[in-house]
Amino acid sequence: MELALFCGLEGAPTFLVPIINPPFADNSPHLPSLLRKTMTEEEKRSARYERIYTQLEDLIRNTGNIISLMATVAALLHHKMPHFFWTGFYILDENDLIVGPYQGPLACQVLEKNKGVCWAGIIRRSTVVVPDVHKFPGHIACDSRSKSEIVIPLLDQNNQPWAVLDVDSQKHDAFTEIDKQWLEKIVRLIPPQE
Ligand code: SME
Repeated sequence: MELALFCGLEGAPTFLVPIINPPFADNSPHLPSLLRKTMTEEEKRSARYERIYTQLEDLIRNTGNIISLMATVAALLHHKMPHFFWTGFYILDENDLIVGPYQGPLACQVLEKNKGVCWAGIIRRSTVVVPDVHKFPGHIACDSRSKSEIVIPLLDQNNQPWAVLDVDSQKHDAFTEIDKQWLEKIVRLIPPQE
């Protein structure tokens, strides 16, 4: 990539110096504002996830306790991602899905079996992205302010689901492929429950 910097001594004519491969990224704060590339919302979101992931990699070394790890993941995601309204886990307990560590408004403690988005994630064993929760048959509304949702199942070594990460947003269509990819990577930091 080629850039040009304005140079010039006081009183002397200003001229352009072409630079090939500048030693800083397009969005570096060290670049003059005119030359700085504006990050798209998706790039900002991705960069934010990258920082969260790096921080979590450090934090998970402090404990092997599942509940503590889940609480750490939920807290960090919830407070760093502006579009997250409710962030937490539901854990399979016998045949019930019960609420685990979470951040946000009060949630349903037990989810009716085989109903709603969280159970869909368990049954399908794959991520469920719901752009409009009101259009999802059987959606369980723990808080009427939730408009869209993403559910990522946590799978054990035998590909069996044992919990889900559930995130709600107050905006319609809030979750993109970036959220899906990063959240799937983040839940893999949590080892399966013994
Ligand atoms: N909406 C979920 C229930 C959990 S809350 O969103 C916190 C569902 O349909 O399973």
